[in-house]
Amino acid sequence: MFEELLQAPALSSLLGLLAGLLVIHLLYSSLTFQGKHTHPPGPRCLPLLGNLLQVDLCRLDQSLFKLSKRYGPVFTLHLGLKKIVVLAGSKTVRQALINHPEEFGDREINPLFYDFSKGHGIVFSNGDSWKEMRRFALTTLRDFGMGKRLSEEKIIEECHYLTEELENHKGKAFNTKTPISYAASNIISAIIFGKRFDYKDPVLRDMVKNDQEAICLSGSPSILIYNVFPWLGPWLQNWRDFMKAVENIKQHVLQLTSSLKKTFNPDICRCLVDAFWTRKLNLEESDAQGMHYNEENLVYSVMDLFGAGTDTTSNTLRWSLLLMAKYPQIQDRVQEELSMVVGVRQVQMEDRKNLPYTDAVIHETQRLANIVPMSITHSTSRDVTFQGYFIEKGTTVLPLLTSVLYDESEWETPNTFNPSHFLDEEGKFIRRDAFLPFSAGRRACLGEGLARMELFLFFTHLLQHFRFTPAPGISEDELDLTPMVGFTLSPPPHQLCAVSRI
Ligand code: HEM
Repeated sequence: MFEELLQAPALSSLLGLLAGLLVIHLLYSSLTFQGKHTHPPGPRCLPLLGNLLQVDLCRLDQSLFKLSKRYGPVFTLHLGLKKIVVLAGSKTVRQALINHPEEFGDREINPLFYDFSKGHGIVFSNGDSWKEMRRFALTTLRDFGMGKRLSEEKIIEECHYLTEELENHKGKAFNTKTPISYAASNIISAIIFGKRFDYKDPVLRDMVKNDQEAICLSGSPSILIYNVFPWLGPWLQNWRDFMKAVENIKQHVLQLTSSLKKTFNPDICRCLVDAFWTRKLNLEESDAQGMHYNEENLVYSVMDLFGAGTDTTSNTLRWSLLLMAKYPQIQDRVQEELSMVVGVRQVQMEDRKNLPYTDAVIHETQRLANIVPMSITHSTSRDVTFQGYFIEKGTTVLPLLTSVLYDESEWETPNTFNPSHFLDEEGKFIRRDAFLPFSAGRRACLGEGLARMELFLFFTHLLQHFRFTPAPGISEDELDLTPMVGFTLSPPPHQLCAVSRI
């Protein structure tokens, strides 16, 4: 890449541009630090590069966690010319997101997020359009059963398909990634498109493959660099692959929505896509909200929900099975509790309150797996003074969830898989304030209710039916828990055996 750059005829203009940027940077730095306000402290930075050389871009969350121990719970970091304020530790992250929801509640639309959706949809949007799309998605998810029977029924139906799929392996070692991703994707597909897909369906396979690829690429070091120096984009293979993957998903979404449109009947609402068009029809032309119900918002909201709803839940479920295979005594206790309380009948959501150990294991999996380690970056919607520091409007803010889920002042054994974190002395389930895998405040995960239901029903159903063990020849100790780093943290490649119990 740099060879290509050096051969470019415009090298002298590029050097001129860099010199210009250097001057702007020096001016900017001096303005930032000379004002009357106290700004969050942070490591000294180099011109243009900022602190890029002081952090590990392959595990940025870990680097930031270490820096927070030196510079405190609110500190500044410069990635290139971009200034970021990092919030660290359970107390600080909750105080910012919950007590100052407005000030810390905008999304930072970085170059990659902008390339993806141009500010449309739910995850990477702001202002009235975001507010309307988030409200619409939340209401529709609720109407389609989040926390209600309808979703529960859909998940239970999918549990049976997943069990059948795992049974086909007849206890032999297999990669958990594909079937579990298909099962999770089918739940969100049933809500969005009103249908599940067969696990062999090429559309499902292609959407899931591209989704996984896009999420993995978006957390890669070269994409982090792209967000700092966006003019590098065309030279970066990862950026080109990312754009290709999201374009493929978009084409599938367009195809699926257009075939739903052909049979659309406003009196029969089959799914979220129908609900979107019905809402548009019901809004008066003059109604300001109506303008947000456009094609772009439909397509990108669907892509957001599909992307956010597949990778996260399937990753967490895969972590839970890997942890069960690694810690067979914990698996024993879950299976004993399930046998005693539920027996062989289908587990229902209402059983959760009687299954405290199982519930604790699921919570502890989410804590340790820490699948969205740096949340999704926020931005300040106005000037704010927080913990005595002045943070100006439009500053990128990173709520470091790693530092919450691994906060030494909150968790007795933060680096160990320990379900007791969620149990009192009598073995009753206890909630913990520092349990924040879905983040908090105005931009908190809107799929939390659905995700929690999926995790509970899939996990309990699978453990009722199968004993999970490492592949033959691999001991429990050898099962590696070092995550694969993308935008989310997923389990390293592995195979497990699902040995039938029933
Ligand atoms: C274990 C599963 C999941 C985890 C750990 C998780 C975690 C998160 C986190 C950390 C955020 C960022 C919050 C912030 O900006 O502060 C987020 C946002 C979001 N999640 Fe989830 N999520 C999960 C499942 C889901 C599901 C199933 C859906 C879809 C129904 C979903 C939809 C969303 C959306 C749309 C946003 C953006 C919200 C906004 O910007 O207003 N998530 N999630």
